[in-house]
Amino acid sequence: MNLFDLTGKNAMIIGGAGGLGKLVAKAFAEAGANVAIASRTEEKLKAACDELKAATGKEFKYYVCDAGVEETVEAVAKQANADFGHIDILVNSQGVNKKFPALEFPMDVFDSIMHDDVASILMTCKHFGKYMKEHGYGKIVNVTSVRGKIATKGPGNAAYCAAKGAVDMLTKQLASEFGPFGITVNAFGPNIMKTPMMTKVFEMRAKEAGVTVEKYLETQAAGLPLRRMSDPEDCVGTALFLAAPASDFLTGNILYPDGGLTAIG
Ligand SMILES: NC(=O)c1ccc[n+]([C@@H]2O[C@H](COP(=O)([O-])OP(=O)(O)OC[C@H]3O[C@@H](n4cnc5c(N)ncnc54)[C@H](OP(=O)(O)O)[C@@H]3O)[C@@H](O)[C@H]2O)c1
Repeated sequence: MNLFDLTGKNAMIIGGAGGLGKLVAKAFAEAGANVAIASRTEEKLKAACDELKAATGKEFKYYVCDAGVEETVEAVAKQANADFGHIDILVNSQGVNKKFPALEFPMDVFDSIMHDDVASILMTCKHFGKYMKEHGYGKIVNVTSVRGKIATKGPGNAAYCAAKGAVDMLTKQLASEFGPFGITVNAFGPNIMKTPMMTKVFEMRAKEAGVTVEKYLETQAAGLPLRRMSDPEDCVGTALFLAAPASDFLTGNILYPDGGLTAIG
C-alpha cells in the first residue's frame, strides 16, 4: 500500500484558486485524486483550472461558491457529490484577514473575519460531512495559521488570531463528532508564506521598517530555526499527508509546517 496514494479519491479544495489551495490541488492530482476547486470568483477559478491542467495534464472541475453563505455551500456540496459520486477529501483553504490595532478594531470587520474564516469552515464541514458520513469515509483538512497558537508582536491581528484559534478548536470538536463516522478532521498552520494574501502585508511591514521587501523578508527569516521564510510549497506535503491514508489514525491534530516558529515562539 502506498501511504500517499490518492488514486480513486475525489477531493474538493475550497479556496483552491488561491496561492496555497492551487498548489494543494496540484499535489493531490499528482497523487492520483480527481480534484475540484471552489471559491467566489469564477474568472480566477477558470484560470486556475487551466493552469492546473497545463501543469498536470489532468482535468479539474470548479464550483463558484461563497463558503460564507450556507445555502450556496449546501447546494455545492450536493452538486459536487452528485458529479463525483462522493467527495472523500475536503480542504478548507479559504481565508481573509484585515488588520487594525485592537483599540480601533471595527466590530463589523471583526464579525466578517470570524464569519469568513471560522463559520465558513463549519458550514463546509457540515454540508460535505453529511455525505462523508453516508459514505462512511472522509478526510477533512482545515488551514489554520501559526497565529492560532502564537500572537504577533505588533498590533493588527486581533480578529485573525481569534479566528485561527477558533479554527483549531473547531477542528478538534469536529474530529470528536465525526470520528465515529469514519471521518478524520485535522488542520495545519503555516507561518507567513509568499502568496497573494500576504503581498500587501509584506509591503506594509517593509515600509514601516524603512527597508525593502527583500530586506524585510531576510530579517524575518533570520529569526527562524530553518533560516528561511515559507513558500506555499513548504505546506503541500503536510496537506497531502493529512488527506492520504498515511494519516488514517490521526484526527483532531494541528500540524505546523512553519520552519520551526512555533517551536521557539
Ligand atoms: N499566506 C499566508 O502567509 C498564510 C499564513 C498562514 C495561514 N494562511 C492561511 O492559508 C489559507 C490560504 O491562504 P492563501 O495565502 O492561499 O490566500 P489567497 O491566495 O488569498 O487564497 C485564499 C482563497 O480563498 C478564497 N476565499 C476567500 N474567502 C472565501 C469564501 N468566503 N468562500 C470561498 N472562497 C473564499 C479566495 O478566492 P475568492 O476571493 O475568489 O473567493 C482565494 O482563492 C487561508 O486560510 C489563510 O488564512 C495563509
